[in-house]
Amino acid sequence: MSFSEHILAWYHQHKRALPWRETRNPYVIWLSEIILQQTRVEQGMPYFLKFVEELPNVTKFAAAEEATILRLWQGLGYYSRARNMHKASKYVMENHAGSFPVAYEELLKLPGVGEYTAAAISSFSNDEPRAVLDGNVFRVLARYFGIGEPINSSAGKKIFAGLAQELLDTDHPATYNQAIMDFGALQCKPKNPNCAECVLRLDCVALNTSRVAELPVKNKGKKSRDRFFHYFIVEKDDAVLMSQRTDGDVWANLYEFPLMESAGPLEIPELVAMEEYQQYFGHAIPEKIERTIKHVLSHQNIYASFYRMPKDVRLQSKKSHWNYCLSKKLDKLAKHKLISSFIERYF
Ligand code: ADE
Repeated sequence: MSFSEHILAWYHQHKRALPWRETRNPYVIWLSEIILQQTRVEQGMPYFLKFVEELPNVTKFAAAEEATILRLWQGLGYYSRARNMHKASKYVMENHAGSFPVAYEELLKLPGVGEYTAAAISSFSNDEPRAVLDGNVFRVLARYFGIGEPINSSAGKKIFAGLAQELLDTDHPATYNQAIMDFGALQCKPKNPNCAECVLRLDCVALNTSRVAELPVKNKGKKSRDRFFHYFIVEKDDAVLMSQRTDGDVWANLYEFPLMESAGPLEIPELVAMEEYQQYFGHAIPEKIERTIKHVLSHQNIYASFYRMPKDVRLQSKKSHWNYCLSKKLDKLAKHKLISSFIERYF
């Protein structure tokens, strides 16, 4: 049996029943693929089901408020994906009269849809012969063929894309693409793959040359930047002071508590000595609520500290994007994970 035949045979025995595999609806497949780029299947499932239930078609999606979409996306991180989805849905309404495209070249024009997503949607919804190339596929190919070229180098990408397309079973593109991704996720796992019981073990170059743990190779990206965030909990009667972030930084437009940023970690006396602090809070003494939390993003490490301000604190001034929100309405605001997790612990 060839590589592709082995993969398909394995899939017929081991495939997972997943709701987005029961449909050819490109809108539903698009939803699932964007969510699954952000998280694993088990964690993505409730998000997927909620999106489909609340926004069952692209017309509803495009007509929804951005806040509704961000709220549904809340907790998945990387919120520009959700915003791009909104733009893409509007593009579909304007350019395809609300009929979600299935052709690879058309899909590529949608904001947030790259080669992987276009290949996934066009093959799953319309059996267009486009090989998907995601982390799972890179891993399976790198190991089976013993390819040490970094998967994120331009030479590497070319090699893997060519090979993936060559191996694609063009009679069954949808099934084959699902199969190789599932094979990577369940059998050829990143850590502790089950090589002893693998249908490809006889011809797997990595296994036969003891390089399974080394492959695939990935070039290190640039170093993460450390940032130090200080959040202030200012309560007045039944309300909490909330701040809406602006564009051009992480978590654009999402809600959080009033924030000050410092170049390094700060003890309370140093914090209170900051000019910016005194401009808003005068000489009020904050109480640190819990230990500093490290929140890792793709290119930044955020060190977040939360402080409770005294009950009688008088704001010296207020930024225009700071507004009181009733505590019981906090749930309605789209917040990033650092803040929603804190609220779950604290409120
Ligand atoms: N990861 C990305 N797309 C997927 C799919 N369609 N099924 C399972 N896992 C996936």
